[in-house]
Amino acid sequence: MSNATPLLDVSGLTKHFPIKGGFPIRRTVGAVQAVDGLDFQVAEGESLGLVGESGCGKSTTGRLITRLLEPTAGTISYRGEDITHAGRRQLAPIRSEIQMIFQDPYASLNPRQTVGKIVSGPMEINDINPAGGRENRVRELLEIVGLNPEHYNRFPHEFSGGQRQRIGVARALALEPKLIVADEPVSALDVSIQAQVVNLLQKVQQELGIAFVFIAHDLAVVRHFSQRVAVMYLGKIVEIADRDDLYGNPRHPYTRALLSAVPEATVDDDGPVRERIRLVGDVPSPISPPSGCRFRTRCWKATDKCANEAPPLVQVEGNKPGHLTACHYPETEALIPARLSKNPGAAA
Ligand SMILES: Nc1ncnc2c1ncn2[C@@H]1O[C@H](COP(=O)(O)OP(=O)(O)OP(=O)(O)O)[C@@H](O)[C@H]1O
Ligand code: SF4
Ligand SMILES: [Mg+2]
Repeated sequence: MSNATPLLDVSGLTKHFPIKGGFPIRRTVGAVQAVDGLDFQVAEGESLGLVGESGCGKSTTGRLITRLLEPTAGTISYRGEDITHAGRRQLAPIRSEIQMIFQDPYASLNPRQTVGKIVSGPMEINDINPAGGRENRVRELLEIVGLNPEHYNRFPHEFSGGQRQRIGVARALALEPKLIVADEPVSALDVSIQAQVVNLLQKVQQELGIAFVFIAHDLAVVRHFSQRVAVMYLGKIVEIADRDDLYGNPRHPYTRALLSAVPEATVDDDGPVRERIRLVGDVPSPISPPSGCRFRTRCWKATDKCANEAPPLVQVEGNKPGHLTACHYPETEALIPARLSKNPGAAA
């Protein structure tokens, strides 16, 4: 990444949801530590993949960045401007530049509005009148996302799941955003349709120079889309790197485990063959995460040090610049062929 001010700069970003309890007076008895001290940047036009299992804080992160949620701590800077606690007025000029695409194209489109109305909605709300009129702009946008501009007057139920997600993309593009947070934009779609929508987003990213934070469950989906990838576990980033470094030289045990679940990677002819690691157990509750390294209850290499000291996210020995790993004992061995590997997860 260049030294220029990043488009988005997140530092120590934290969101704890208070848990209320007690009688007769309800008070805060604990907190869901959904996001706990994230540091990352997104450069202009760059796409960052954000990956991790269910409940690790991906959507919360997306909602914090887009300011749909108020952070508990940390800072969010957009183009060098601190917007962490920005009010309505300060956010107004920025609102249009940061857009979100949601997982469920069914729930996120108003069934009673026509496509034209849905896609022009953001222009209306922000009182933006493009040259040539809003309707023309909507037709243009429908064309960009691969929909028939003549379908302007149709309703969401007349479209397939993939087409509905295209409508969501058109709406997100309406205000010419600089940053789009896409929260599992293809998870609800048929596998056969997923690649088409990812390709569309990739085209949008490359041709319109829009930066993306692309949230996904597994590493396969973001592999071809993201220039950099951050892996999250229980509210923390455990590894972040350029795509090739992350997939080719994963240093965190959790990244390895996620990668070994990517079927595509095991049949990769030109890359090293992955070892197979089956993760045992569930992600612990973010209400009382494990001490020290949060991954330790599922890690086959955990020691006392892992229980006592939280590993910092740093450039461990052997990492290229920009490749950061949070582990006391980062993986060093080359990836070993699947057929020779033991199953370390099974021993835990
Ligand atoms: N409004 C809320 N109030 C309380 N807890 C919440 C709230 N929103 C999210 N959480 C909790 O915060 C944690 C992180 O949730 P989040 O939705 O960010 O995870 P995720 O990584 O997006 O998961 P998924 O892959 O299932 O979408 C979860 O334990 C969730 O239950
Ligand atoms: S710090 Fe310890 S428990 Fe955590 S991932 Fe590294 S080896 Fe495993
Ligand atoms: Mg989510």
